[in-house]
Amino acid sequence: MQPRLYRYPVTVLFFAALMFSTVCFAAETPGAETKKEKKLTEKVKSWGAVPWEGIHSMKGAEYVGSEACAVCHEKQALEFKHSTHARISVPGDDVKAQGCEMCHGPGSIHVDNGGGRGTMVNPKENVSACFTCHMDKKAEFSLPHHHPVREGKMSCSDCHKAHGEEVRPWSATSLENINEACFHCHKEQRGPFVWEHEALREGCATCHKVHGSVNDKMLMARDNNLCLRCHTQVNFPSIGGSGHAGRLASGPCFSAGCHTAVHGSNFDEHLRY
Ligand code: HEC
Ligand code: HEC
Ligand code: HEC
Ligand code: HEC
Ligand code: HEC
Ligand code: HEC
Ligand code: HEC
Repeated sequence: MQPRLYRYPVTVLFFAALMFSTVCFAAETPGAETKKEKKLTEKVKSWGAVPWEGIHSMKGAEYVGSEACAVCHEKQALEFKHSTHARISVPGDDVKAQGCEMCHGPGSIHVDNGGGRGTMVNPKENVSACFTCHMDKKAEFSLPHHHPVREGKMSCSDCHKAHGEEVRPWSATSLENINEACFHCHKEQRGPFVWEHEALREGCATCHKVHGSVNDKMLMARDNNLCLRCHTQVNFPSIGGSGHAGRLASGPCFSAGCHTAVHGSNFDEHLRY
């Protein structure tokens, strides 16, 4: 008797499709090495260093200490003195990887050559310098929806000031400053809007997981829970003075026909386009 599988072309097709999608998925498995990372691995290997383990660097380079850098990089040295990372010391045996060299790797070759490009790790192009310590961030940037940092299209320093007084520049004053970092690239969300959504005053990160998320558009939640954290009132399911019981059942608050202009609107006080 023929195996059942071959008697049902539909079944065969189904398995073919399944296999095909498995192959496609494997090629895009989050966390797999990106093209950019492969290139950098080659570069670091050519230095004779072990890629992505500890602070990788030029072969034979030794730690010289931050004072040696200040001679030529006065600006960075002054800024860095008061920064978040200046306050920490690296645990483990290799206590020499302190100060500047905790992110830039040992600097003797660079210093002996009078500086120049290509002899120091630059985290702007080589994000693994940050992942060395912030391993959880690598996982966040590998989630299905993420800022393209590992792909090399942007870097941690587009949002964080590595040398600055506060590596999270916004926390020094208010959360609202997070938004400034975002507006450099996302101008549409800046407004000004005739009707602002007050939620934005709490910062973009109240609704977005800015490194990466399992949800589309890097949202904290994909459903009404995103909005109900703030909009649950005593007379719920009445929201903003109007009954929402039926509406909440028909989809997310920000779906078509509802409050699609979540960041602010010029047309409608209820945040619609
Ligand atoms: C003798 C002067 C001198 C000293 C000392 C020095 N640098 Fe530099 N450094 C330079 C010059 C010059 C450049 C190239 C700048 C440019 O092209 O704009 C440079 C570039 C860099 C870069 C960018 C490299 C790249 O490829 O993008 C980093 C990072 C850096 N230095 C870090 C350090 C650190 C950390 C130290 C201390 C361990 C240090 N430097 C010591 C002169 C120096
Ligand atoms: C927490 C990690 C970290 C530490 C510690 C650190 N840097 Fe940097 N550095 C970065 C990042 C990220 C960049 C790239 C982004 C940028 O240019 O702002 C960078 C870039 C640089 C550059 C290159 C700027 C250019 O023109 O491309 C120099 C020079 C430099 N750092 C020097 C230093 C010196 C000197 C110290 C110590 C006083 C230091 N860094 C400490 C993360 C760090
Ligand atoms: C040698 C280990 C090490 C490296 C390399 C390193 N960090 Fe850090 N970073 C730390 C530690 C430890 C803290 C916690 C400091 C504290 O809580 O005061 C920290 C704190 C931070 C914070 C602030 C966290 C908070 O809660 O305020 C940010 C943002 C950050 N690092 C980003 C970066 C970026 C971006 C890079 C790469 C340019 C980097 N770090 C490289 C060890 C490191
Ligand atoms: C798109 C902007 C953006 C980029 C790119 C980015 N961050 Fe952040 N990061 C933020 C914001 C905003 C927060 C604050 C989030 C909050 O308060 O909920 C944050 C918080 C952090 C913190 C402290 C809180 C925590 O989540 O542990 C660390 C550490 C950190 N980032 C490291 C990194 C590293 C390392 C990179 C690069 C690999 C990076 N970030 C890239 C925006 C960014
Ligand atoms: C240096 C530029 C840059 C900065 C700064 C930046 N982003 Fe982005 N953002 C991007 C890029 C690039 C993408 C990916 C766009 C794509 O894949 O089509 C993106 C995607 C997004 C998306 C998903 C958009 C979509 O259509 O899926 C959200 C949400 C977002 N960013 C929010 C933020 C927030 C919040 C901040 C501030 C904490 C921020 N971004 C800072 C460049 C930036
Ligand atoms: C009240 C929650 C909330 C806040 C606060 C918020 N967003 Fe959003 N954002 C959303 C929702 C919901 C979507 C998805 C809309 C959709 O899927 O139609 C979105 C989508 C986006 C997108 C994708 C493009 C688009 O409009 O669909 C970008 C980029 C973005 N947000 C950036 C930002 C920035 C930058 C900030 C801070 C200034 C911010 N968001 C603050 C809820 C929020
Ligand atoms: C961080 C808290 C917070 C979150 C989260 C939040 N909002 Fe708001 N929202 C506010 C505040 C505060 C106001 C202004 C006061 C008010 O009208 O209740 C507001 C006002 C509004 C308004 C205008 C009021 C009206 O009469 O129509 C709409 C529409 C709205 N929000 C929709 C949403 C949607 C959709 C989401 C989810 C994507 C959301 N909000 C998430 C805080 C929040």
